[in-house]
Amino acid sequence: MTDQLNDEDGFFGDAVAARYDDPASAMFQPKAVNSAVDLLAELAGDGRALELGVGTGRIALPLSQRGVPVHGIDLSRAMVARMRDKPGGDSIGVTIGDFATTRVDGTFSVAYLVFNTIMNLTTQEAQVACFRTAAAHLEPGGCFVIEVMTPELRSLPTGQNVVPFHTSPTKWAFSIYDVATQAMSSNYVQVVEGRGECRSVPFRYVWPAELDLMAQLAGLRLRERWDGWTREPFTGESAQHVSIWEKPAN
Ligand SMILES: C[S@@+](CC[C@H](N)C(=O)[O-])C[C@H]1O[C@@H](n2cnc3c(N)ncnc32)[C@H](O)[C@@H]1O
Repeated sequence: MTDQLNDEDGFFGDAVAARYDDPASAMFQPKAVNSAVDLLAELAGDGRALELGVGTGRIALPLSQRGVPVHGIDLSRAMVARMRDKPGGDSIGVTIGDFATTRVDGTFSVAYLVFNTIMNLTTQEAQVACFRTAAAHLEPGGCFVIEVMTPELRSLPTGQNVVPFHTSPTKWAFSIYDVATQAMSSNYVQVVEGRGECRSVPFRYVWPAELDLMAQLAGLRLRERWDGWTREPFTGESAQHVSIWEKPAN
C-alpha cells in the first residue's frame, strides 16, 4: 500500500495530474463542461476571465476557444503542464501561486473557482482572503463565480462522520466530516496495477450563507445562486450550487 503525500504541487502532484482528466467522470462530460463555459463566456462578455485553480484546463481551454482571454492561477506545476500539452494550452497565461493571495496584472470581468476548489483552502481565513483577492482582480460590475457542493451533513446519522461517495471492486472513496470545525477530507483507496494506493485530501466545507458573508467582507454582493450551470433553482435539496457575486459598478 502506498500513500501519496503532499509535495510541492500540493495535493495535485504528477501522479494525480496524470489521472486527473477522466473522460468517464460526470465533470468531464461535454454537457457539463459546455454549460459552465456558456455561463462564464456570457459573464466575461468582451472582457478577460481569471480562473483560480486552473488545473489541466478542463474549463479554461474551451472558454479560451470561445474567444475569451483566460488567465489561470494554480500552485501545481504538474497540473498546468498537462494543460500546456493540450491543443491551445499555450494560449492560457498562468501564474504559479496560491490563489488565496496571488495577484496578477490587469483586471477581469469574471473570476471563477469551480469543482469544489474553494474547499481546498482549509481555513476560514484563507477562504476570506480568496474572496478579497478575487474581488481585487475584478472590474467594477465584474463577477466572482463559485461552483461548490453543499455540505452533506444531512447524510450523517447521529454519531457517524463518514459519507461514502464511490464504491467499486477496485476503488473506494469516502468523506470524513468534523462538524465541530468544518474540516473534512476526501479519502481514496484504489487498486492500481495490483497495488493498493491511498490518498487523503483535506478540505474545509462551507455553507452558502458563509460564502455570502465572505463576499460581503470583500465588497461583493450576491447576484445569483442556482443549483447548477443551467440555472435550475437552488433549493433545500440542492447538492451543489453555482453562485455569482458582483463588484458594485460604483
Ligand atoms: C479539483 S482541481 C480543479 C481544476 C480545474 N479548475 C477543473 O475544474 O478541472 C483543483 C485545482 O486547484 C489547485 N489548487 C488547490 N488549492 C490551491 C491553492 N491554494 N492555490 C492555487 N491552486 C490551488 C490544484 O492544484 C488543482 O489544480
